[in-house]
Amino acid sequence: MSSADTSRPFTVDFELVCKEFNAALDFYTTKLGFRLDVIFPADNPRTAVLSGFGIGIQLKRAGDSAPTAGQHVPAVTVQHADTDSWGAGRAGMEYRDLIPGRLGGRYIASQIRIQDGGPVPDYVHHHRVRFQMIFCYKGWVRAVYEDQGQPLVMQAGDCVLQPPHIRHRVLECSDGMEVIEISGPAEHETFVEHSIALPTKSLHSDRIFDGQQFVFHQVADANWLAASIDGFEARDTGIGAATKGVASAMVLRLSDAGRTAATSHNAEFFFHFVLQGSTTLRCSDDMQWQLLTGDSFVIPPDTRFEFAENSSDLELLQVVLPGDVTMSDR
Ligand SMILES: [Fe+2]
Repeated sequence: MSSADTSRPFTVDFELVCKEFNAALDFYTTKLGFRLDVIFPADNPRTAVLSGFGIGIQLKRAGDSAPTAGQHVPAVTVQHADTDSWGAGRAGMEYRDLIPGRLGGRYIASQIRIQDGGPVPDYVHHHRVRFQMIFCYKGWVRAVYEDQGQPLVMQAGDCVLQPPHIRHRVLECSDGMEVIEISGPAEHETFVEHSIALPTKSLHSDRIFDGQQFVFHQVADANWLAASIDGFEARDTGIGAATKGVASAMVLRLSDAGRTAATSHNAEFFFHFVLQGSTTLRCSDDMQWQLLTGDSFVIPPDTRFEFAENSSDLELLQVVLPGDVTMSDR
């Protein structure tokens, strides 16, 4: 079977609604020997498809239904680092939601951490996504990707673009590892891969997966160039080129010369995470937010904004879809 074939239907003979979803999942897989085929959403699983002994079972968490795709309310949304709780996600990771509103279900941004390092209980899997990237924020993480050679180690400041359906597996991480993961759509299936082992024997680093190439961007090799926001320079992660403009991802810092100025954008998704330092986000409707390390925010299109009172060490992760955004000073 081609590794790009994800159309294989998963047969569901009956559906089980369970109050203790994680315990039931553990029981059916570990104790009874069923195989996990699909699970979602990753940050707070509520549906799983299992197979074994000639039957397919869908486990559903009691009392849950999929969030309705609401209208995207065009307002600035800010998520402060110190006001949020962490929840248990897939494969032993803790998740913090950076965009609780999910922008009508189109995007999800999560801060994911593993406090006690060591081997990660992950398995080879892939995702049905339009866009997905992972930025290493703290510590390091070792992972392996289909057709990309031996496992790689992402250090703080590095990132990867995970093209749709690329098989991958997280292997190991440091104590206190934290990553920022941004995906669209917000709810997407994780498919467990049972037949392809990683690393794959062949190396095809230029392979195209659904129109996108894998990217491993390392801060150690990065070049800083003028950014599209006045007063800033940026290191481009290469995600814009690798996705043919589906998205762009940059790290911004203050440039030596030049003043910051108010601007606006025309993108659908315009997300920032404060990697270090502090800034004040001022918006056209006289709103302003003091932002510190670990805070994140989404600015809707056609909203004038400015980064003011910036600390000299300010660094922002900026992720934009589509990638060919136009900034305007009007
Ligand atoms: Fe994954």
